[in-house]
Amino acid sequence: MKVLVIGSGGREHALCWKIAQNPKVTQIVCAPGNAGILQHADCVEIDADDIDALKSYVAAEDIDLTIVGPEAPLVAGIVDEFQKDNLRIFGPVKYAAQLEGSKAFAKQFMAKYSIPTARFNVFEKYQEALDGLKEYSFPVVIKASGLAAGKGVIICQSKKEADSALKGMMVNNRFKDAGTTAVVEEYLDGEEVSVLALTDGNYYFCLSPSQDHKRRDEGDKGPNTGGMGAYAPAPLVDPDLQVRIEDEILLPTLDGLREEGHPFVGCLYLGLMITSDGPKVLEYNVRFGDPEAQVVLPLLKTDFVDIANAILDGTFKEMKTELHDGSAACVVMASGGYPRRYEREKPITGLKETPDGVTVFHAGTKWHHGDIASNGGRVLGVTGVADNLKSALDLAYQGVDKIHFDGSFFRKDIGKRALKG
Ligand code: AMP
Ligand code: GLY
Repeated sequence: MKVLVIGSGGREHALCWKIAQNPKVTQIVCAPGNAGILQHADCVEIDADDIDALKSYVAAEDIDLTIVGPEAPLVAGIVDEFQKDNLRIFGPVKYAAQLEGSKAFAKQFMAKYSIPTARFNVFEKYQEALDGLKEYSFPVVIKASGLAAGKGVIICQSKKEADSALKGMMVNNRFKDAGTTAVVEEYLDGEEVSVLALTDGNYYFCLSPSQDHKRRDEGDKGPNTGGMGAYAPAPLVDPDLQVRIEDEILLPTLDGLREEGHPFVGCLYLGLMITSDGPKVLEYNVRFGDPEAQVVLPLLKTDFVDIANAILDGTFKEMKTELHDGSAACVVMASGGYPRRYEREKPITGLKETPDGVTVFHAGTKWHHGDIASNGGRVLGVTGVADNLKSALDLAYQGVDKIHFDGSFFRKDIGKRALKG
């Protein structure tokens, strides 16, 4: 079986690593991939957004199964395009991908199906949005409706900040088309968790609940990033809470999309705030999280390619799916300056010196003058897997200690809150 993975980050490295464990897989190709992915896959220079080129490649090379990493091609309709030509692809169709592609769609969908989420309004006009702020206290959350690479959510402490956020996106086109529609919503207090479910639209299997660390600095301070580390399972999600998340959020979401005639196939990511009123949806993503994939895939015992095939063949209901016991922790090593300006092409040493139990997933790396070198803001996701969270974190940090590149930094407090219990 030949498998194509689309994307080039740590999530895609974790996917290739997991897919490589399937003995029936004879070749993995990754478009465009990175230096770490080369351990498991052949990399081809096709952009993750170039749907036509990806489709031609899959047809010409007889790829049996395509797995999509990032959201942009899903939101642009890559699954529908592949399906037109009977090419097998794992991911949601364009309609269902709106859950991530349009926050206005997602919020209206949740309202329609009574899925718990923050109170909200959707606005197309700046003046109306400004007037609408009257209904909210501060802090208030302002969101660009479309895809904004994780930068489109602004938590505003005052009317002045909210005005400037709205003006920036709705008048000054700060997020281009993504910000012409704005969502204003109530600020929710609580702890965040991510629950990812593999699903055929009817049946689902939840991966270990995980927690990301979005801020750059220790103590959840500093600017937002793509994610500085993650761990799973998150002890916050006890069995009772897991049942509530499935009954109050996951099932009504899958039922709603089925009712609308577009069942969700793929990995559905629920970004949740656990409030004093119970779990509420902050966001949906329609693909694996990054860095969450780097901790949930190592804890998935069942073969991932077998799951994807069962989902696409309609046999998922009968499939036995299992998770490993134990925990996984991922510490991201980033380039100095990230998430703002940073330098690339810094040679990386020590990648082979990490202890047993550590897997180094590459996020932004490339071969450069005979070395593996940095090639992005997030460079590596050093992941430890062990019997418990403390040991997994210790392993990940032992791995980080061995690895060096100029200007690198990482957060020293990944998973700390969960350890305090
Ligand atoms: P989103 O892309 O919608 O998940 O938002 C990014 C981040 O903004 C989330 O992970 C939360 O940390 C924060 N956030 C989003 N919506 C809210 C909200 N209603 N209340 C508090 N924080 C929020
Ligand atoms: N870690 C958050 C995301 O993948 O969107």
